[in-house]
Amino acid sequence: MQIVMIGTGYVGLVSGACFADFGHHVTCVDKDESKIAGLHEGRMPIWEPGLEAIVSHNVKRGRLEFTTELKPAIDTADAIFIAVGTPARHGDGHADLSYVYAAAEEIARALTRPAVIVTKSTVPVGTGDEIARILRANNAPDGTSVASNPEFLREGAAIRDFKIPDRIVVGAEDDRAREVLHEVYRPLFLNKAPILFTGRRTAELIKYAANAFLATKISFINEVADLCEAVGADVQEVARGIGLDNRIGPKFLHAGPGYGGSCFPKDTLALLQTAEAADVPMRIVGSVVAVNDERKVRMAERVREALGGSLQGKKVAVLGLTFKPNTDDMRDAPSLALIAGLQQQGARVAAFDPVGIDHARSLLPGVEFADDSYSVVDGADALVLVTEWDEFRALDLKEVARRMRGNALIDLRNVYEPEEATRVGLTYRGVGRASAAVA
Ligand code: UDX
Repeated sequence: MQIVMIGTGYVGLVSGACFADFGHHVTCVDKDESKIAGLHEGRMPIWEPGLEAIVSHNVKRGRLEFTTELKPAIDTADAIFIAVGTPARHGDGHADLSYVYAAAEEIARALTRPAVIVTKSTVPVGTGDEIARILRANNAPDGTSVASNPEFLREGAAIRDFKIPDRIVVGAEDDRAREVLHEVYRPLFLNKAPILFTGRRTAELIKYAANAFLATKISFINEVADLCEAVGADVQEVARGIGLDNRIGPKFLHAGPGYGGSCFPKDTLALLQTAEAADVPMRIVGSVVAVNDERKVRMAERVREALGGSLQGKKVAVLGLTFKPNTDDMRDAPSLALIAGLQQQGARVAAFDPVGIDHARSLLPGVEFADDSYSVVDGADALVLVTEWDEFRALDLKEVARRMRGNALIDLRNVYEPEEATRVGLTYRGVGRASAAVA
C-alpha cells in the first residue's frame, strides 16, 4: 500500500514509521521545512522511546520518506492520513480544526485520482462530513472517500500501542474506504488486533468517549484518594480492591497530581463543547474536568501544609516536570500549576527532569534547573516528586535527606515506601495513603 501521512507531529510520525515497519510505503509530509530537514538527518522532533531506530531502519529500506511537497507524494497514494494538530482554541475550548481543513483543501486540489482520506487527528463528531464537503467543493476526483481512524497511542509507549493495539477503529461510509483500511491494517491482524468498523461519526465519538472515560477513572480515584486521607484508608489498596473486579479493571486507577498531556485536557473540553452544541450536557465529564483543574492547583497547598503553613523563603525541589514519564511533553503538565503556585507564595523552586528540561525552560521562568536528581535537593526544605520517571524510584533517600535543609518529602505519585522515608528522617506525605502524613 502507498500511504501519505500529513503532519509529522507525534501521531503522524509514530503512525507513519510503524506503517512503514509493517511493509507499506509511507511518505510523511510536513510544511515545517526545519522538521523535514531534521528528519532527513535522522533527528527526531519528539522524544519517544524506540522511534529513532524504527525511522532510520525504514528510511534505509526505502519504505519511509519525508518531504515538504504534498503533490508528488499524493499521485500514487491509496490512503492519505491527516495527522495535523488540533489544539484547543483559545477562549472556548473548541478543537481548532483550521489545520485539518487546510490539509483537506490542499489534498482536494492535488489529487488526480480517487483516494481514501483518513483523519487520524482527534476531530469532533461531524468533521469527516465537513472534510467530504471541502473535497467536493474543491473538485476532488469522484470516488474519493473520507474515513475516521482515531489513534489510541500513549506517549512513551506509542510504538507498542501502535503495533499491539487493543483495537483498531475505522469509521467509514463506503466499501472502498473499508477495503483500503482493512488492507492498511492487515499486517497487524497477526497480533490479533480486533478491527471495528463503524460509521464515521461513531468512530469520531469513540475517541472522545474513550479519553473522557479514562479521565473519569483518574478524577474518580483522585477523589477517593482525598477521602482515604480524611478517613485513614489507603488508596492503593482501594484501587487494587476495586480493580480486581473485571468490570472495573486495574488500569488508570493511580491517584496523583491530576492528569495532563496533549489529549485528556483538550479532548474532555472538546467533548463538552460537542455535547453542549447538541444540547446534551455531559455533567459527569464537566465534573471530571473541574475536579482535575482544582486538583492541580491544590497540589501547591499540600507542599505549603507540609512546610508548616508558609512557603515564604523556602526552597522546594521538584523531581519530574513532564506530564508523565518517557516523554519530553510539557503540555498541561501538573508541574506547571504546582510550580506557579509555589512561586506565587514565595518559594524558590529548583527542578530536575531527565529529558523535559529543554522544553520546560521557557515555560517555567524563575526555576533553577539542576543537572541530576541529587543536586536538585541541595539545601531544599521540601522535595516534591511530580513525575514518576523510573530513575527516581531507586533514589537513595538517605543521601537525599543528608543534602536537604528540611525534611519534607511530598510524593505525588506514591513511588516511595513511607516507612523507608521515615527511617532516614524524612517526613513523608503521599497521595491518599493512610500514612499520608507520616511524621
Ligand atoms: C492518552 C490516552 O491514554 C491515549 O489512548 C490517547 O490516544 C492519548 O491520550 P497520553 O496522554 O499519552 O495518552 O498518556 P496517559 O498514559 O493516558 O496519561 C495521561 C495523564 O493521566 C498523565 O498525566 C498521567 O500521569 C495521568 N494518569 C494516568 C494518572 O494520573 N493516573 C493513572 O492511573 C493514569
